[in-house]
Amino acid sequence: MIWITGSSSGIAWSSATSLAPFAKRLIISLRKKDKLEELSKQLSSKVELKILAFDMQNESEIADVLREYETELSEVDIMIHNAGISMRSLAQNTEMEVYRTMMQVNYFSIVQISQFLLPYFMKNQGHFVVINSMADKFGVPYRSGYLASKMALNGYFGA
Ligand SMILES: NC(=O)c1ccc[n+]([C@@H]2O[C@H](COP(=O)([O-])OP(=O)(O)OC[C@H]3O[C@@H](n4cnc5c(N)ncnc54)[C@H](OP(=O)(O)O)[C@@H]3O)[C@@H](O)[C@H]2O)c1
Repeated sequence: MIWITGSSSGIAWSSATSLAPFAKRLIISLRKKDKLEELSKQLSSKVELKILAFDMQNESEIADVLREYETELSEVDIMIHNAGISMRSLAQNTEMEVYRTMMQVNYFSIVQISQFLLPYFMKNQGHFVVINSMADKFGVPYRSGYLASKMALNGYFGA
């Protein structure tokens, strides 16, 4: 079973549609509930599908999802951490709230889900796939919060 976060668009949506015919079961998660029906229509004929809608900015919402669907999620074999947000502004003009949001969505939420899955992955030899950024190897102007969150991911998964 494969779980991909941030599946309402972009890389994850392309991955979900490409992987669907090869997966036994697929979980896609997203934030925007208005896309649920459309995505379900497009994928459910190809794979046994579960869609989870929650906000990765909200730690307690994530905890609720992990608790409510624990049995199902404990069977995930491949976790694709894709959901992410970006920012672009001079560091000196960037509010602390932006840095906190970057860290919550791009880093803490991923650690929270990974900590939940780790005991099951140790038993079942599960795999994490982390969608990071080439720019995490060096600094890029205007992207201080984004790059800090992506570099933090390297630290966690590198360890
Ligand atoms: N595209 C690039 O050039 C590029 C380059 C380097 C790295 N990346 C990385 O690749 C990943 C995917 O990027 P993309 O270009 O495919 O971006 P995208 O089209 O904007 O997709 C991002 C996904 O993350 C979800 N997301 C954002 N905030 C969320 C939240 N608070 N809770 C739950 N889901 C949330 C979005 O859901 P909603 O639609 O519901 O907001 C969306 O499905 C990201 O981690 C990004 O940093 C992308």
